[in-house]
Amino acid sequence: MIQSLRGMKDLMGEDAQKFQFFIKTATKVAENYGFNYIETPLLEETKLFKRSVGESSDIVNKEMYQFIDKGENDVCLRPEGTAGVVRSFIQNKLDKAGLNQRFFYHGPMFRYERPQKGRLREFHQFGVESFGEDSVYEDVKIISMCANILDELAITYKLKINSLGCDECMPNYKSELVKFLETKKDNLCEDCQTRIKQNPIRTLDCKVESCKKELAEAPKMNQHLCDSCSSDFAKLQDMLTHLEIEYEIDDNLVRGLDYYTKTAFEFVSDEIGAQSAIAGGGRYDKLVEMLDGKSTPAVGFAIGIERLLDLVHFIQHREGIYVGVLLEDATKKAIKKAYNLRKYEKVFFEPKVKSLKAHLKSADRMRMEKVIIIGEEELENNTIWEKVLKD
Ligand code: HAM
Repeated sequence: MIQSLRGMKDLMGEDAQKFQFFIKTATKVAENYGFNYIETPLLEETKLFKRSVGESSDIVNKEMYQFIDKGENDVCLRPEGTAGVVRSFIQNKLDKAGLNQRFFYHGPMFRYERPQKGRLREFHQFGVESFGEDSVYEDVKIISMCANILDELAITYKLKINSLGCDECMPNYKSELVKFLETKKDNLCEDCQTRIKQNPIRTLDCKVESCKKELAEAPKMNQHLCDSCSSDFAKLQDMLTHLEIEYEIDDNLVRGLDYYTKTAFEFVSDEIGAQSAIAGGGRYDKLVEMLDGKSTPAVGFAIGIERLLDLVHFIQHREGIYVGVLLEDATKKAIKKAYNLRKYEKVFFEPKVKSLKAHLKSADRMRMEKVIIIGEEELENNTIWEKVLKD
């Protein structure tokens, strides 16, 4: 028997309904915030991700579905959505248009990770990206949009925030951190030893217990911010408090992708096991320029849809009309009735001849709202038998 690949799941039944419900809800919120739908290809040139997500990230280093296609192109299934949207933004010359542009998207992403609960190799994200606005109030908007989506779904969460600084303050901080790391080098894991050279701040969120201990005293990023980053970080906190969105500052929140500057955030849940991040995002003011576009500030987030499914408490309301027959001769009339009703409502026609009791049982199981039955009496009198189902 052929099975689906490890870490790749069929989406069906109640999960499929929750998935659609999530997309509908998130789309409505994103549209209320003035964001427009964008669809970008699943397959992109590998160098797009190398130059954006970053060569030192685990995603690019270890997790890409990368291959050479029949035309000898080095291509890769997208591991995340931001890079493709930025490529499209530049390719369509929107960076030169001088207008703010705001997009939302959803679709499958691919990362060759070790599968476990909440960690898949094919998973789905709902993401938003806002281009052209450098005010920290845009960061507030992005975070509040994510909070709104989760609130609409009655999902409880913790919000963690940090600031990763900018070109002015980050280099000084990094050299101070490297100095500190050099003194601890021998006690750090192999990955962290390489990170010291490649991307020292990634040591801060190393999951290895011994590294965590060694790094407890490391200099804190958000205490080394320049005046402008520091003032923006304070404004962000002030606005979140004002909006009554609870948050905590996480000094070690660095995110697993290399393109972030200033605001970084994650929404986590303690109800879904070890893979607790349900959404993540932040500001990435350098990325458009890094991909050869005109320098444009940007900020966004992505929600991992599969991680939410266990948290969405979905009550399937009764919906639609069930049409059934008690004898074969009633079929023609019943099909016509169903055909006419479908112009206005969801209809299920059951072609099998069954008893009234059996029809009612099927309709109830399908969570239909109304049942129409045609039997001998109804045929003779040209009527229908109707019943509304209630819980
Ligand atoms: P990310 O933190 O890598 O950010 O992913 C966002 C969310 O996708 C995570 O919080 C998690 O819920 C989900 N996710 C990630 N990997 C997996 C996996 N293997 N299985 C299931 N779910 C997963 C990004 O991808 C950025 N592009 C977000 C962003 C948009 N930043 C700015 N704009």
